[in-house]
Amino acid sequence: MTTITSSLDVQLRSVSPRDAAALARLYNHGVASRLFTYVTEETTPERQFEVIDEAKLRYPFLVAVTDGQVAGYARLSPYGGTRPWHRGLGEVSIVVAPEFRGQGVGARLVSGIVDAARDAGFWKVVSLIFEPNMPSLSLFRRAGFRDVGVYERHGNLHGTWVNVVILERLILENQD
Ligand SMILES: CC(C)(COP(=O)(O)OP(=O)(O)OC[C@H]1O[C@@H](n2cnc3c(N)ncnc32)[C@H](O)[C@@H]1OP(=O)(O)O)[C@@H](O)C(=O)NCCC(=O)NCCS
Repeated sequence: MTTITSSLDVQLRSVSPRDAAALARLYNHGVASRLFTYVTEETTPERQFEVIDEAKLRYPFLVAVTDGQVAGYARLSPYGGTRPWHRGLGEVSIVVAPEFRGQGVGARLVSGIVDAARDAGFWKVVSLIFEPNMPSLSLFRRAGFRDVGVYERHGNLHGTWVNVVILERLILENQD
């Protein structure tokens, strides 16, 4: 696993059902911020239990824990479709709680989810970022993702058209 300097003592572990309430809080910050999802409805811990169950099937889902608290999560979800040739592709999403940002948690999570994707046999991870979301674009670029391009006016969020930047990181070890 790549070593990332962090000012916090952060441990990564697989998600567990006991994280459902913390995940709902993190996700709902994102819904309110309008920074990374078209979803406008808040989620609930009950719904997060279902998400965790679904995730257990195949896609890595990590939480970052510091001092017993969930500081953030990173997960992969299906990308491109469900045909056999899509099995090596995963879309990564990462959220860090506002009070833990700027302290290396996001960098640890990116590194951890790429390692987990490699271990699970994925050959590429992709991230779709709303264009004004500079912290996320910097995070992924710094972690070795390359810009693929920009989908212009890709979705509509509360009446505003949003451009979406596509980034990818190849996992060459799984491309033999
Ligand atoms: C993007 C996000 C995950 C970054 O998490 P973080 O823990 O604050 O990031 P880190 O402290 O590990 O910083 C890692 C790198 O990210 C970039 N970054 C983080 N915050 C930044 C900011 N405010 N402005 C510019 N770059 C930033 C930098 O490149 C940084 O590296 P550096 O410190 O060496 O310059 C966090 O801001 C967040 O949760 N945002 C809302 C959710 C979201 O938009 N997720 C992405 C969509 S999937």
